[in-house]
Amino acid sequence: MPILNRVAEMQDEIAGWRRHLHQIPELGFDVHRTAAFVVEKLKEFGCDEIVTGIGRTGVVGIIRGRRGDGPTIGLRADMDALPIHETTGKPYASTVPGTMHACGHDGHTAMLLGAAKYLAESRNFAGRLAVIFQPAEEGGGGGKEMVNDGMMERFAIEKVFGMHNRPSMPIGHFGIRPGPILAATAEFTITVKGRGGHAALPHHTIDPIVAGSQLVIALQNIVARHTNPLESLVVSVTTFHAGEAYNVIPAQAEITGTVRTLKREVSKSAEERIRTICNGIAALFGVTVDLAYNTNYPVTFNHPDETEFAGNVAADIAGEEQVDRSLPPAMGGEDFSYMLEARPGAFIFMGNGDSEYLHHPAYDFNDEAIPYGVSYWIKLTESALPAKAGT
Ligand code: NI
Repeated sequence: MPILNRVAEMQDEIAGWRRHLHQIPELGFDVHRTAAFVVEKLKEFGCDEIVTGIGRTGVVGIIRGRRGDGPTIGLRADMDALPIHETTGKPYASTVPGTMHACGHDGHTAMLLGAAKYLAESRNFAGRLAVIFQPAEEGGGGGKEMVNDGMMERFAIEKVFGMHNRPSMPIGHFGIRPGPILAATAEFTITVKGRGGHAALPHHTIDPIVAGSQLVIALQNIVARHTNPLESLVVSVTTFHAGEAYNVIPAQAEITGTVRTLKREVSKSAEERIRTICNGIAALFGVTVDLAYNTNYPVTFNHPDETEFAGNVAADIAGEEQVDRSLPPAMGGEDFSYMLEARPGAFIFMGNGDSEYLHHPAYDFNDEAIPYGVSYWIKLTESALPAKAGT
């Protein structure tokens, strides 16, 4: 089944919703206007049940198939934007200074709405479809909050599927893989405390900048010398703040960074190693080193059977040669991981063409991708919940 005719007809309407959402980006859990827009549309489509406030500002819509006596599957889109000042210069650019849809969640939300509209009209499936619109994917863990709010049990969701656009992958292409597809993430803050003083009298100080610099270098050894080269691990120091004057050695330095892994064991061992290095640097330089280590999103782990199923659906839409079923994992994080920990399912990437990369101020979701994403959701629903012949 290539792109559905009806979906091709709907493209302009869906692109209109996408551009509207693009103009009103909202951050984290504060997605009130976006959620209200989603609710208004779901009502208009004749959704059987619409529940708001799941995971604070998440929305779930239930659409019953022609035969209601089947399982429930969940399709998830994310609604939040990023604290980035948009530079696309597009006529539908963000109207909120310093906030933009730089990850394409406007496109994800619009495409799931498009599928909801089609499926609420045709209802050519058995069982129930839950369309899940989550807040706070970009940090904050909206997906986790929705799961913790009992979403899976409340709507009896048996399987869940997610999708993300990917720049540099051609339009009409899909990529997926069984097992880990995105990394587990953790953030650390290291505070190095020494004794400040005159820069000309370093022997009267305990310099936190020199100690902190050694610490940054030592952290590089975790990947280079401590981890099996066949495993995936990123340890990146991303900020280093200390001092304010040319002639003063400060009393304190603060270093922050992120850790990305594809396995829980590797993540655990990296955390232990960071702790050991902090203690070692403290002993070596006579500074005190405090480590705050926060584990964040878990690995986004695709379940094998659902991954094969999702790959088949994508191949049906796009053609087998357009589907990469062994896409290399990426070291970004994704809080759909919490939904995949709660229920079997799969997360797929869909091409966004030759656009700027995600989180770039000139990134824009490509509306040409809409028919592929919407058709994928529709085909997935009708295949996962087949309406019996003659009903
Ligand atoms: Ni995203």
